[in-house]
Amino acid sequence: MKFTADDVADQSGKTFLVTGANTGLGFEAAKVLASGGGRVLLGCRSEEKATEAMDKIASDVDGADLRFIPLDQGDLASVEAAARLVRGEDRLDVLVNNAGIMMPPLQYTTDGFESQFGVNHLGTFALTSHLLAKLAESGEAHGGARVVVTSSIAHKPGKIDFDDLGAEESYDAQARYQQSKLANLLHMYELDRRLRAAGSSIISVGCHPGIASTELGRHMPKILTLAMPLVKLVFNSPAQGAWPTLMAAVSDEVEGGDYTGPSRFGETSGKAEKVESTSRARDEELAARLWDVSIEMTGVDPGI
Ligand SMILES: NC(=O)c1ccc[n+]([C@@H]2O[C@H](COP(=O)([O-])OP(=O)(O)OC[C@H]3O[C@@H](n4cnc5c(N)ncnc54)[C@H](OP(=O)(O)O)[C@@H]3O)[C@@H](O)[C@H]2O)c1
Repeated sequence: MKFTADDVADQSGKTFLVTGANTGLGFEAAKVLASGGGRVLLGCRSEEKATEAMDKIASDVDGADLRFIPLDQGDLASVEAAARLVRGEDRLDVLVNNAGIMMPPLQYTTDGFESQFGVNHLGTFALTSHLLAKLAESGEAHGGARVVVTSSIAHKPGKIDFDDLGAEESYDAQARYQQSKLANLLHMYELDRRLRAAGSSIISVGCHPGIASTELGRHMPKILTLAMPLVKLVFNSPAQGAWPTLMAAVSDEVEGGDYTGPSRFGETSGKAEKVESTSRARDEELAARLWDVSIEMTGVDPGI
């Protein structure tokens, strides 16, 4: 089955947390989920941008049920505070881990992590870990909760450089992005394996948007941004790019450990369907090692 926003059924009664929901894919996914009747928590690092996004959604969706959750995935204290706010909600059915950065110059998070590994993977790992109990409690009542993790085609050449996660020896912005997106998938699969082993009703699902014309290229060299009009013409709009995210978040056909992405032109565009990841992304030994390193680096233990 191929999936678009039109396939999102009634989401009334469910609560979603979408990270990085003020723009791009996160914004589009939040809008569709809100128009399906879901309560949508927007986990964003800028209150101003989040408010603007919520105003836009509210002007399109009558009665949209929205809340801003301050969340900076580059700061573990902020991640913990955001999770605390979310735990105070009546329920949480789906955590959509979408926030991410691509190829910035070498920089470090508040906690001293190389920023792409820190924001894209460690922030996601910590947030998810803090919210597992809440998801489990809510999911029981609604047939099972979900964790969605957003990866990329860029995971394919990715490698985890365990010897230099801090990028102290070298920094290649592209390789670090690929590493962070491989880490997202390793996390998604390992989480699902552990949830199954624990008999949990939560499922963990991956997605990637293909190539979509969002703000993600903000750190790209100017010369490459000249290609944006072409990207807009040939590849996914942000709304289309959100289809795999939406499929992962709500489709009944999705099971734990599935990975969704676009169906056309080498998974770059088109309707969403289940897609394959690389054998490295499904490497259980690698995933277990990353899991342990992530606990060590964040000090957050998912407890499963
Ligand atoms: N667009 C594509 O072609 C593509 C392809 C493959 C994968 N992806 C993945 O899709 C996801 C969404 O990307 P996008 O294309 O929608 O990019 P985008 O338009 O740049 O949106 C990224 C979102 O993440 C937020 N974010 C960045 N750093 C954050 C932090 N430290 N804490 C909390 N939020 C933070 C941004 O907030 P601010 O606005 O405040 O910066 C923004 O809301 C990313 O995980 C990306 O890797 C995108």
